[in-house]
Amino acid sequence: MESRNIRLAVIPGDGIGTEVVAEGLKVLEAVGTKIDATHYDLGAARYHRTGETLPDAVLEELRGYDAILLGAVGDPSVPPGVLERDLLLKIRFAFDHYVNLRPVKLFPGVETPLADTPVENIDMIVVREGTEGLYAGTGGVMRRGTPYEIATQESLNTAHGVERVVRYAFEKARSRPRKKLTLVHKTNVLTYAGDLWQRTVDRVAEEYSDVTTDYSHIDAASMFFVSQPERFDVVVTDNLFGDIITDLGAAIAGGIGLAASGNINPEGTAPSMFEPVHGSAPDIAGQGKADPTATILSVAMMLDHLGLSAEAAKVEQAVADDIVERLTGWSSRTTREIGDDITERVSS
Ligand code: NAI
Ligand code: MG
Repeated sequence: MESRNIRLAVIPGDGIGTEVVAEGLKVLEAVGTKIDATHYDLGAARYHRTGETLPDAVLEELRGYDAILLGAVGDPSVPPGVLERDLLLKIRFAFDHYVNLRPVKLFPGVETPLADTPVENIDMIVVREGTEGLYAGTGGVMRRGTPYEIATQESLNTAHGVERVVRYAFEKARSRPRKKLTLVHKTNVLTYAGDLWQRTVDRVAEEYSDVTTDYSHIDAASMFFVSQPERFDVVVTDNLFGDIITDLGAAIAGGIGLAASGNINPEGTAPSMFEPVHGSAPDIAGQGKADPTATILSVAMMLDHLGLSAEAAKVEQAVADDIVERLTGWSSRTTREIGDDITERVSS
């Protein structure tokens, strides 16, 4: 990996996406990785200009990169769902990003809404299934717009799809000090899908005697994220539950400005994509108010994924040090100032 440049596709997207990605790239350069970055103009602006979301030719071109860094897409001027489904989900599905990895970690110095919680109590990683469940797009509508309308939206769960993400989660759990895996689902009501998930966890668990397994219903888990976050180390869950619970995770770990994520293709048959959890934030776009930290932490995840673990650790440490200094007052820095400060730390 060191011998050649990392080929990186960059999709800054819309709103604050472009602002935070610029800072992420600055840090990436400063940490000493050799990068060939190619920018792709995708998102609301392109959609309005050409009507295109993600042309198939561009999708195929993206396939050739080592990784993708995404800011955020979305704008109030685009009908809801268009960019999500035809751009984001299209990439996730086409590149088999079956793991959506979202760390929930409280850094020292970050204020959490949970009173008196020591930082070590909030340190978990959510492994969200990324290609199935309610996001698979199965279902349909009849008699739309009439009083007799019928809308169905089905959750698709395959033995193959569940097993591969569960195996990934067990490996993750094994690599961490606590070695604990919690399945989060709703097995008491979603009996068909829940049964497949629970049986899969039980079966795979036999190969991981060093990992402790646990189970929590999604509603109870939502409560425990707030009341007892220390219960969780690695959480494995389906696509929708994972989406929701990681917003809660972001909230307890200091907010959306710090929440990073990776859409991972573990086998490397297509590039993985790294992005902050937040969206394009039209309310603060263009004002230099966006916190680029979530993007910079996503860059650290990307470095780790590419096997550059020393560089990843360096970026994460620079963020941790920067966050500690935020305690001392200079909280009103611009997007660029935060990026510059973290860049300076990784280059020293
Ligand atoms: P959002 O995450 O863009 O914003 C929610 C709130 O958090 C806003 O008040 C915003 O100002 C604030 N915020 C977000 N990121 C921040 C940052 N880095 N620093 C400081 N404050 C930050 O979610 P919202 O408003 O629901 O969606 C806006 C648009 O983004 C929509 O078009 C939505 O579809 C899209 N979106 C795109 C995502 C993606 O590209 N992966 C993910 C989520 C939303
Ligand atoms: Mg979300």
